[in-house]
Parts: sequence; C-alpha cells; structure tokens
Amino acid sequence: MSIPNLSQSDIIDAFKYRHATKEFDSTKKLSDEQINFILTTANLSPSSFGFEPWHFVVIQDPALRELLKPVAWGAPLKLDTASHFILGLTMKAPMTKWDAPYINYMMDEIKQFPPDVKEMYTKFYREFQERDFALDTDKKLFDWAAKQTYIALGNMLTAAALVGIDSCPIEGFHQKNAEKLLQEKFDIDTSKYGLSFMVAFGYRKAAPPHPKTRRPLTEIVSWK
Ligand SMILES: Cc1cc2nc3c(=O)[nH]c(=O)nc-3n(C[C@H](O)[C@H](O)[C@H](O)COP(=O)(O)O)c2cc1C
Repeated sequence: MSIPNLSQSDIIDAFKYRHATKEFDSTKKLSDEQINFILTTANLSPSSFGFEPWHFVVIQDPALRELLKPVAWGAPLKLDTASHFILGLTMKAPMTKWDAPYINYMMDEIKQFPPDVKEMYTKFYREFQERDFALDTDKKLFDWAAKQTYIALGNMLTAAALVGIDSCPIEGFHQKNAEKLLQEKFDIDTSKYGLSFMVAFGYRKAAPPHPKTRRPLTEIVSWK
C-alpha cells in the first residue's frame, strides 16, 4: 500500500469548504459508490481495543424519514432534502461489556485471536473497563462507546468534504423519544443500541450564510 501524499493545502481547503449544511439541493444525489466511500471511512475508523461499537442505518425511505421529524427538531429540512440520511448508533452495555457475546465474536471471528491472545486481550479489556476507566454503569459504558462512534462521524464528514460532498451532523433530537421510535418502527433493538447522532449527506443548496468562525489556534493549543 502506498504512503498517502495529499497536499496539506488541499486538505485545509476541504476543511474550510465543509460546513454544517442546513439545506441540501434535493435534485442532486450521491451515487452508491460515493455513499459507500463515506461509509467505508466509518468502517476504517479507529476504536478502543478495535471493537467497533457502532452501527449505521441509512434511511432512504421517505416514509421513515417523515417519522423522524417529530422527534428530531434539528433535522426536518435535512430529512426533506439530503441525498442520504444516516443514524449513528452506538452499542450499549450488553454488547460492549468485557464478557459480552459480541466481544467474544469480535475476538473469535473478526480478529481471529488464538486462545492465548484472546485470554490476554480479555484480561486487559476487563481491567481497562473496571479499573482504568471505571466504566461501572450502563450509562458510562454507553458514553464511552459513543465517543468512538463520533470518531467515525468525524471521519465521514472529512472524507465527504475532501471529495466535495456536503454534510450536516445532527444532535437536534430527543434521545429517549427517538429511541422509542426506532424500537417501534425501525426494527432496531434499543436494548443493544442507542442513538448517538444523525448525519445528512448531499450537496448544498446555497453558499453558507456566514463565514466560518473559529478561535485562533493560539487560544486552543498550549505548548509546554
Ligand atoms: C455533534 C454535533 C451535533 C450537531 N447538531 C446539529 C443539529 O442538530 N442541527 C444543525 O443544523 N447543526 C448541527 N451541528 C452543526 C454545528 O452547529 C456546526 O458544526 C457548528 O456551528 C460549526 O459550524 P461549521 O460546521 O459550519 O463550521 C452539530 C455539530 C456537531 C459536531
């Protein structure tokens, strides 16, 4: 595999071009290849111990998009206009606790650890959860896993921007009501998965209404 050699200025240009797109041009659609490219960057994202505690649901059915509107105040315009609309789900405690069947599956089937490696890895993972990070409640375990799902989100947003595709991350929803809806109407087992974010992809309808504002680098970085 060759060493990446993208120019820094091209990458910074893409970061400046990316903005939280409020309304998309509904006549412009991403191809299957483009959306799979974006999803592949989620798939290739790093995660703690490499356990990938996420799942992404692409909502293309207009009727299902309509159902989301009442629980997602930040989403209606994006639900109406985005080419692709994705729910970012994070695994809950029954999936990610050190002795969960899913963790066993990851080590046996995906990582294909030999028994001695699996035993050692399990010990480290257990110590990390119980001792180092004190993930001793279901809520703490979910929030820890959600941090990782957001890494995948960041990568999807950046990858899209690098190829000129617009996006908007969305947390403007009522988490409890949204999860109830996902359980009842989207066939999602919310005892195992929680909703972390929504994210829309497509092409901007208009230029951003405001120039991008950021604190200066000197304010957000300290050198010692
Ligand atoms: C986790 C997260 C949740 C967000 N939720 C929403 C949202 O619900 N609706 C929305 O229009 N923008 C949302 N945004 C976009 C932010 O408002 C936007 O990224 C921020 O104002 C900076 O602007 P820029 O992304 O255009 O540079 C969200 C951003 C992040 C990272």
